[in-house]
Amino acid sequence: MQNAAAGARPELHPAPQVLILDAGGQYCHLIARKVRELGVYAEVRPSRTPAAELAGAKGVIISGGPASVYEPASPKIDPALLSSGLPVLGICYGQQLMAQILGGKVRRGEKGEYGLATLERAGEGGELLEGVEDCQQIWMSHRDTVAELPAGFSVVGRTAACAVAAMAAPGRRLYGLQFHPEVVHTLPGQRILANFVLRICGCQPDWNPRSRIPAIEREVRRVAGGRNVFFFVSGGVDSTVAFTLCVRALGRDRVRGVYVDTGLMREGETGFVRQVFEGLAPGAAAIEDAGPEFLARLEGVRDPEAKRRIIGEEFVRVQERILASRKLLDSHWILGQGTIYPDTIESGGSENAAVIKTHHNRVEGIQRLIEAGRIVEPLSSFYKDEVREIGRELGLPEELLSRHPFPGPGLAIRCLCAEQEAQPERVEEGWIVPLRSVGVQGDSRTYARVLAANRMSHDEATAAVNRVAGINRVIRLAGSRVPLDQMRVFPSALSRERLALLRRADAIVRAASHRSGFDQRVWQFPVVLIPFGAPAAPESIVLRPVESVDGMTAQSALMDEALLRSLTEELLSLEPVCGVFYDLTHKPPGTIEWE
Ligand code: XMP
Repeated sequence: MQNAAAGARPELHPAPQVLILDAGGQYCHLIARKVRELGVYAEVRPSRTPAAELAGAKGVIISGGPASVYEPASPKIDPALLSSGLPVLGICYGQQLMAQILGGKVRRGEKGEYGLATLERAGEGGELLEGVEDCQQIWMSHRDTVAELPAGFSVVGRTAACAVAAMAAPGRRLYGLQFHPEVVHTLPGQRILANFVLRICGCQPDWNPRSRIPAIEREVRRVAGGRNVFFFVSGGVDSTVAFTLCVRALGRDRVRGVYVDTGLMREGETGFVRQVFEGLAPGAAAIEDAGPEFLARLEGVRDPEAKRRIIGEEFVRVQERILASRKLLDSHWILGQGTIYPDTIESGGSENAAVIKTHHNRVEGIQRLIEAGRIVEPLSSFYKDEVREIGRELGLPEELLSRHPFPGPGLAIRCLCAEQEAQPERVEEGWIVPLRSVGVQGDSRTYARVLAANRMSHDEATAAVNRVAGINRVIRLAGSRVPLDQMRVFPSALSRERLALLRRADAIVRAASHRSGFDQRVWQFPVVLIPFGAPAAPESIVLRPVESVDGMTAQSALMDEALLRSLTEELLSLEPVCGVFYDLTHKPPGTIEWE
């Protein structure tokens, strides 16, 4: 319930006891979530936040990040923090930064250390490693290392490849870890964070998302005053939980929702949304069928950027129309949104994190409401899993709460198109298919071809992306009507027929992965249609299951062979489908979506 400029409202959450300085690491939100899991309220701040502004906290954690401390533009912290008396824990880049500022030396490693390692305890561990057994599994991801300790520090942990895996200066309450305690692969990770947060910083548990519900409702009433609230609901978890909180706070007569059916949704989606909202507040949500308008403007379009632009513009047009026809811009109404905590940080300009795709289009009318402060965002202090917990407490159906994220442009960005017929190019590793998909490398976006192979493991795929020029993605054939070397790309555009085929394939995959429980093990499972096949069956389906924490990075998820076989069989029974592929690409280098 804040907008970025106004700052958080204390009623909604306690003052943060732990602050995480964001040094550009994808793990910075994960650290905050792990601290909150200990029952201690934590927030993220830009790395350069002045020490004086951190003084109210009981401890500070400096996150990891992709930079090297010797790069001139690398994230910095206020050095005064390290002599302020506050306990500080530096993780990965954070440890290196701490060492450098305090007069130690950081050196570029001969080779990086990525993945699992064994932590050997050394010297007097102090309180940070209290209760951590010797030789436990930890997770590393670094190239630079601390080569010389700053004065007053001692080594408290090492691995075979890293002499300073953990360092401490307990008298000054300063600690560093080269490994990542926040990831699940570090087995004593939560114990180490608990040692820092509860023992060293002396934090008292003060955070339980479920118990915040009455405060959120009070805040909704305060912000709304005598006005009503309307939402553009998406059928996703965040907007539905936010809507429900507003209904509870204000009563169902004062809350309205509109769901825009773009015609680009999954099978059964509109019915699902109707059913959920009828259960929540009968009559409070309306469905706007804009499918024909969207499809008319998209028919025949091929270019991914053109698709996004048209869908964005169409959203804006439809939303403006709804705002005007329902008189939602007059002073009786304010806008409700399902914004969650990481969204507020990203749009508030997390200066060190890279943004790869622009996801949201701001409708001018909505922009005006936000600028005028006519907006209520009940979930702006919470992470996704906390939103789910609140949803559970509110009694929302599990089927809704455990839904995978689904992109705004819907199936359109999973339906690939091609200008002309083209043959794949044979290389040692397989065939380079002349279809381009989006990827990400470093901070920038790539648009490159796809390597298809008959046999390939995840590790081989990772190596192939690095070795083969001009590709950013690797797929393995799971089954086909004709051999891979006879398949080619066919000219194709967005059409109702192709969207219908994709929708059917997606429904098949969703049902099977739900039956097998696979959907609960993955973050998302996009199904992609590519115009690649043979004249009688010119299409193929790509399965893209991924594991992720927040969508920023992802691992291609390992699929059970039995599930893959049965899915392939079922998908190949769809008439135009020639082949079924399994996407083996991690993010980076391939984004989760193909466009
Ligand atoms: P990528 O493909 O960038 O996706 O790895 C990361 C996460 O964002 C979702 N995504 C979108 N969501 N509008 C959205 O609302 C979009 O245009 C969009 N593009 C990607 C994607 O599904 C994944 O969860």
